[in-house]
Amino acid sequence: MRVEPPVRCAVVGTKNIAGKHIPVLQALPESTVVALCDIDAQAVSTAAHEFGVDKTFTSVESLQAWGQYDAVYVLVSVLAVADIAELFLQAGTPTFIEKPPGLYTVDTERLAAVANETGTMATVGLNRRFYSNTMAGRDALLETGEVVSVTVHADEDVGPKWDDPRFPPEVAARWVYANSIHALDLIRYFGGDIAQVSAVQRKVGLPVPDSFSAIIDFESGAIGRALADHFAQRGGHRYQVRTATATLTSGHTLEDSCTLTRRNREPVQFSLTGLDRRLKPGFPGESKAFLRAVQTGNPVEFPSPTLVDAVKTMQMLDAITGANEWSPKSNPVSQQPS
Ligand SMILES: NC(=O)c1ccc[n+]([C@@H]2O[C@H](COP(=O)([O-])OP(=O)(O)OC[C@H]3O[C@@H](n4cnc5c(N)ncnc54)[C@H](O)[C@@H]3O)[C@@H](O)[C@H]2O)c1
Repeated sequence: MRVEPPVRCAVVGTKNIAGKHIPVLQALPESTVVALCDIDAQAVSTAAHEFGVDKTFTSVESLQAWGQYDAVYVLVSVLAVADIAELFLQAGTPTFIEKPPGLYTVDTERLAAVANETGTMATVGLNRRFYSNTMAGRDALLETGEVVSVTVHADEDVGPKWDDPRFPPEVAARWVYANSIHALDLIRYFGGDIAQVSAVQRKVGLPVPDSFSAIIDFESGAIGRALADHFAQRGGHRYQVRTATATLTSGHTLEDSCTLTRRNREPVQFSLTGLDRRLKPGFPGESKAFLRAVQTGNPVEFPSPTLVDAVKTMQMLDAITGANEWSPKSNPVSQQPS
């Protein structure tokens, strides 16, 4: 079904990250925010006032009963995302789902199955794929040949998350899925689908494994390396990607300029451009791609992550972390002896 622009968007979950998505939807000519919904009446009222949105709801049921929207953004707390997203997929509403769609791969698989059964278009907010610096750098790198190696560092100081009341222990324990997924997903963004993962894990300072090292065989024949230490200060998400003749290196952070280097040539730098410079990087690009799919009624295209795509990234995380052994869905880590 085609939708005439501006696409009418409802936003569910109106606190932290909604404050970054709503300005994007209000800045893009192809969208308008018609309703806000949050079970926290204070949160929805504050956001409605800040962003000038009149229509508010304190339950998804009442929002769905109203129904005057073309698409929905599911931006609720990590542990609620899968259940709320499922309600909209069941209703056939084109759905933007913040990452991780499910904290467990089985939940994301369930969402992918529902989207498939109902024929509902959905995309997942793995916004690092849409950083304008990284996209331009990738395009320039691919002009030099096929990717032969991808190295991603997803180091983070996760210890303080265990003491932060905003994050339940289940989320702190699965921080690779809750946050490091952003950097690790770039392995598949650069290298494509994966044939095999060989990984080792260590438990250094946290109640769960917190040091991950993996070698990745891509179906293309390229090699990948994933490295994530989660127990100490000085973290950082970074990548280095090579063809036979060129290397693309991220900056100190993914927001910094990335650099393409080739022997006997001047290095070329790629910085954030356009709306990425004044809004949250990657959010304008991922929303433009989602809104285009809503308008045309066509599926989202690469690099937009579909739910099937998100399942593949989460299966890669399962292999890197070995989490199915120490944090299976049926036995959350909060119930396990440390
Ligand atoms: N892409 C990014 O860079 C990025 C950054 C931060 C967070 N996130 C993701 O965004 C999502 C939200 O994160 P946040 O930091 O804004 O969380 P938050 O906890 O600050 O806010 C979530 C809001 O959802 C509301 N909520 C919870 N259950 C609900 C329900 N059943 N119905 C309606 N509202 C409900 C809460 O009341 C709260 O106001 C998470 O999935 C998180 O992983 C993404």
